[in-house]
This record gives sequence, C-alpha cells and structure tokens, in this order.
Amino acid sequence: MSARIALVVVSLILSVLIGLALKGDGASSSGTEESSDKKIKIGLSMDTLEEERWKRDRDMFVARAEALGAEVMVLAASSDDTQQIKDIDALITNAVDVIVIVPHDGAAMAKGVEMAHQAGIPCIAYDRLITNCDLDLYITFDNVRVGELQAKYLVENLPKAKKNKIVRIYGAKTDNNALLFKQGQDNILNSYIEKGIVEVIHEDWAADWNPENAKKICDAAITNHGTKFQAVLASNDGTAGGAIQALKEEGISGSIVVTGQDAERSACQRIVNGTQSMTIYKPIKLLAERSAEIAFAIANREVVIASDKTDNGKKEVPSLFLEITAVDKNNMMDTVVADKFHSKADIYGE
Ligand code: BGC
Repeated sequence: MSARIALVVVSLILSVLIGLALKGDGASSSGTEESSDKKIKIGLSMDTLEEERWKRDRDMFVARAEALGAEVMVLAASSDDTQQIKDIDALITNAVDVIVIVPHDGAAMAKGVEMAHQAGIPCIAYDRLITNCDLDLYITFDNVRVGELQAKYLVENLPKAKKNKIVRIYGAKTDNNALLFKQGQDNILNSYIEKGIVEVIHEDWAADWNPENAKKICDAAITNHGTKFQAVLASNDGTAGGAIQALKEEGISGSIVVTGQDAERSACQRIVNGTQSMTIYKPIKLLAERSAEIAFAIANREVVIASDKTDNGKKEVPSLFLEITAVDKNNMMDTVVADKFHSKADIYGE
C-alpha cells in the first residue's frame, strides 16, 4: 500500500488535515503531474439510499468529485452485505482508482477492503468505520459527541421529577457508529442512572436502522410498561420517526422528549411542530466534499495529512472528525436554515 500513495501534501485539504501522515516513506513526487492525462475514477459503495441523508451524501460527493474532474461510479447495496461485496468487486472490475465505502456492516466490509487492496486500490471509510483491516483513511463526524449531545439534551429537558423513566433505541448493531452513539449517551446518562434520577425501562437495537423496527421497540416498551415514561432516546431521525408513530397511536406524542440525529427534513418539521424534541445537525456537505477531495488526492497518489487516528482493531487508521451541533426549535433558524441545509419553507411551510 505505501508505494501507492506518495508523500505529497494535498494543498486543497491542508487547511483541515494537520498532523498524521497517511502513508508513505517520505519520498515526494507530484501526484498531479503523474495523473494529468488520465481521468480519475472514484468508486462509491454505499450501504443504502433509503434514508434522506444518504441521497444527500451521494449527490454532494458526486458533485464535488465531478467538479474536480473525476468520474464517479456509485453503487448502493440496500443493506445487504453480500450485495455490497459484489458492488466492491464491480468497482474493482471497472478499474476505479480509489473506493469510498459507507459500510452496511463495518466488520463484514473488511473483506471488501482486502479485495480492493489486492487489486492495488486504496479505500476510504466514509462516515462509518471498517474494522480489522488495513483501511487507508476514515472520515466521519465526532460520533461519541453525537451520543453525548443527545443524552445531554434529554436529561436537561426531562420533567423535574425525582425519577424519570426512559426508553432507549439504539441503531444497527452492525454499524460501528451505533456503538459510538451509545457510548456517548452512556457517558452522560450513567451517573443519572446510578443516582436513580433516570431509569431505563426498555432498550433495544433497531436492526438496519429501520424506522419500523424502532416502532416495534417503542410498541414493546408500551406493552410491557405502559405509557408512563418521559423520554425516548432515539439514536437518529429515522428511529425517532418510528418511535413517534408508536407514541402517536397512544395519543402521547408531543408530551415525551424524543431525540434524533441527521436533521432530516421530516425530523425538522416534527421539531417545529413539537412531536420530536431535537436532532443533531451534521454538516454532510463538508463530509461529502472533503471526502471527494481526499479520494481525488489519493487517486492521484498524493499523500493526505490526517489530523487524528482511530484504532480499528488492526491498525491506527488515519482519521478526520468533523464537528456537529444539537438543534431544537430554538436554534433551527440559526443552524439548519442559515446553512441552507433546508429552506425555511421546507421546515415551517409557506
Ligand atoms: C450515521 C447516521 C445515520 C445512520 C443510519 C449512521 O452510521 O452516522 O447519520 O442516521 O447511520 O443511516
């Protein structure tokens, strides 16, 4: 791998990537000279396009990569690991220069990285970590922080009772991010649980992050414990939407604190209408564009300087973490709308 990526600083990303050299032995060459005649081909292997956020990720990634002069081949696996491996195989057959992967299962996709490496193609994990493999770079948000902000919001907005009951809905167990979100939530919640201020009456993992599975978890909580709970700590907007549907059927939506993540349009609408309490706004444009720039640079055999590293079980993967913001009805205009992530009309109506 080290021969594949020469040690050249990538000027367009240098402003944010400072510190850890991705690969290389110090030899320097101009990547742009090497590749000037050849159109760079980037493979983007996605878990799914079912959720609003992933369509945005794709569109913004492709737009930036094309603006740089690259061609992008996008394949989405509909939450199926076998399909995602086939997709990666197809990208290798199509001789892409670099593969950017949003893994459905971060453990299962190690095989995809190995296959790509055997063909001499570097791999970047996008948003979700790929574990136990020789991954080249990982770009994501601060996912532990996401969980911390969700739990912090929840405890700060619980009724001022001595004891509050909550339901916890985690994401897909196969997604390393879901574990990180839980870890962040635990960082905040554990002391409240130990003091008896918060009691978790029901908790479960929503397979594939599916809103219907989240609804089932909320339904099970209601069946087993009734409706006398004060909050649902849902790990993203999709699962929040499923939970809110269950709460609606019981006539209690709007009176329960519900967290989320992704600032999906429907979630932002629920926030201003009062059925969801908050979301986490992640600047996807930054993630998508930065990833496209890095993929382009790596395809040109330039070295990327990463600011951080992540232990993926096999190695310290050069990493880049982007900041996130908690959003509720009070700062919706100053964040999501000000950034043009959604228009005011899209959220509040005309
Ligand atoms: C992402 C979230 C997303 C979830 C479900 C996670 O890996 O970080 O933004 O909501 O997957 O797609």
